[in-house]
Amino acid sequence: MKAHIVVLPGDGIGPEITREAVKVLNTIAALYGHTFTFTEYAFGGASIDAYGVPATDEMLKACASSSAVLLGAVGGPKWDNVKPEIRAETGLLALRKHLGVFANLRPVAPHPSLTEASPLKSELLAGVDMLVVRELTGGLYFGKPKETRMVKGVEHAVDTLAYSAPEVERVVRLAFTLARNRKRKVTSVDKANVLESSRLWRKVAGQVALEFPDVAFENMLVDSTAMRLVTSPASFDVVVTENMFGDILTDEAAVIAGSLGLLPSASIGAGGPGLYEPIHGSAPDIAGKGIANPVGTILSAALLLRHSLGLEAEAGCIEDAVHVTLDEGILTPDLGGKATTRDVADSILAAIQKSVAQV
Ligand SMILES: NC(=O)c1ccc[n+]([C@@H]2O[C@H](COP(=O)([O-])OP(=O)(O)OC[C@H]3O[C@@H](n4cnc5c(N)ncnc54)[C@H](O)[C@@H]3O)[C@@H](O)[C@H]2O)c1
Repeated sequence: MKAHIVVLPGDGIGPEITREAVKVLNTIAALYGHTFTFTEYAFGGASIDAYGVPATDEMLKACASSSAVLLGAVGGPKWDNVKPEIRAETGLLALRKHLGVFANLRPVAPHPSLTEASPLKSELLAGVDMLVVRELTGGLYFGKPKETRMVKGVEHAVDTLAYSAPEVERVVRLAFTLARNRKRKVTSVDKANVLESSRLWRKVAGQVALEFPDVAFENMLVDSTAMRLVTSPASFDVVVTENMFGDILTDEAAVIAGSLGLLPSASIGAGGPGLYEPIHGSAPDIAGKGIANPVGTILSAALLLRHSLGLEAEAGCIEDAVHVTLDEGILTPDLGGKATTRDVADSILAAIQKSVAQV
């Protein structure tokens, strides 16, 4: 297969971890007979420094015409005080909107050999295997008006939380479709006791659920979900929720796995290129030290192969190699180990080569 992948290393640890993920993709291409080409663009703070904006039109166009986009992370203290419209995070929202990737998939399954790294007791971790589906292009992060203004001499700020029924329907339907290949249970998370947008969310989710009688369905309030994620995480299979609730709940779910550095994500839409990135940020506190955990980004590359290129065996090969590496205790400091970013990636590469040689 031929595929063209746009790589956006971004800021902080972004370049260190995407470099290793690209090595993994090149190794997979060589071993399985694919041709992957890569083009790199500055994004986020790096793009602000070079071009004065976090996302250039040229970069957005290249992403839209690619097979898939692999992203590191953006932002950092250097760009914290720029105008809101050119913040690195604004560029990220613009990229998601430009690609129309309305659903962000975040799988969370703690690795058995890493239960010590989780803040939860090991008995709570048994059987945890959930997929959080976060709505990505609507809700509070995009609603208008979004502004700060003076009202009778007093500063007021407003954000708008708005959803249309079709926006809810498409992401909930995707969650149900994905649940059919898992444990067949969907939890739809909202705040329907207070928010009008959540009442619409709950109504539409209930309607979509009727189309999937083979999938168990429950509604859950977001505050209750936050509690149950740490008291009974194994009770969840697919969790679907709106943009901001998903943003917050996925960070909570991530620490269950032991480190933010482990978890990948896939942002997909209606058939265009997907956007693949680890769930963590640019980690400026460890940038340049060579100790960032590359696993979240390498697993994001596996999701890219699965969801954008349909290469299931190749994706599984990477995931198995990550398991081997973690089982062998080759861990970066966030997991209590002493390995460098490159040590971990090299071990994953070696495990990939070994497993393909054995076939
Ligand atoms: N999608 C994105 O690009 C994204 C997401 C979140 C935050 N950010 C931005 O990143 C910057 C830093 O944000 P933050 O500090 O709140 O969150 P962060 O995720 O960057 O870091 C939180 C903590 O986790 C650690 N960490 C994160 N990823 C790691 C990895 N791969 N290996 C080892 N340790 C890792 C960091 O060292 C830090 O201690 C901010 O500018 C923020 O806006 C970007």
